[in-house]
Amino acid sequence: MKILKKILILLLAVFVIAQFFGPDKNKGEVASVNAFMEETNPPDEVIMVLKQACFDCHSDFTRYPWYNKITPVNYWLDGHIDHAKGELNFSKWSSYSIKRKDHKMEEVIEMVEKKEMPLPSYTWTHKDAILTDVQIIALSATIGNPKELSKWLGGELVEDNWRPVKLKSGTYMDGKLDFV
Ligand code: HEC
Repeated sequence: MKILKKILILLLAVFVIAQFFGPDKNKGEVASVNAFMEETNPPDEVIMVLKQACFDCHSDFTRYPWYNKITPVNYWLDGHIDHAKGELNFSKWSSYSIKRKDHKMEEVIEMVEKKEMPLPSYTWTHKDAILTDVQIIALSATIGNPKELSKWLGGELVEDNWRPVKLKSGTYMDGKLDFV
């Protein structure tokens, strides 16, 4: 019994001392996701989803919950954020190649449709991050691949190339437009 008491006191002491340590906070600028927003120009519904359910882990800015003050919980959350940012960091969007951006977008749709993202451990405590079917459709339809979306909805994709005005491509530089 005496030993058990000693062990408990020791554990408590370790816990108290541990509170003086913690990982660095992920506290960059909210504006760091602006490059992504400007390039993809998502509608408001999608911006809401990303803000509510993704940016806390996938950007340089986290809105921390109160329990992040507790060591070792903060290390656990930081591990998720680090790992998530390594996979996809919306704040670093402009440094990604076109190929990487394309690939990451496909993965975003896949993760959201399969309900693998946001992480379950996150939705336990962030009920507003549980995406409704309507939000998932909004996200997929906006940044997604129409083929995937029609498959997911159990429908068939109708493609139509008809356009009333001929599409021309060219370059615009120094006020001069050259068609190829
Ligand atoms: C609680 C933190 C957290 C939240 C919130 C979160 N993610 Fe993640 N995400 C992770 C982690 C950790 C990984 C890397 C490990 C993994 O794939 O499970 C990851 C990986 C990913 C990947 C890469 C998957 C792959 O196969 O390479 C994509 C895409 C992604 N997340 C999209 C999202 C989207 C979209 C949202 C919002 C709807 C979101 N995540 C919300 C933590 C999070």
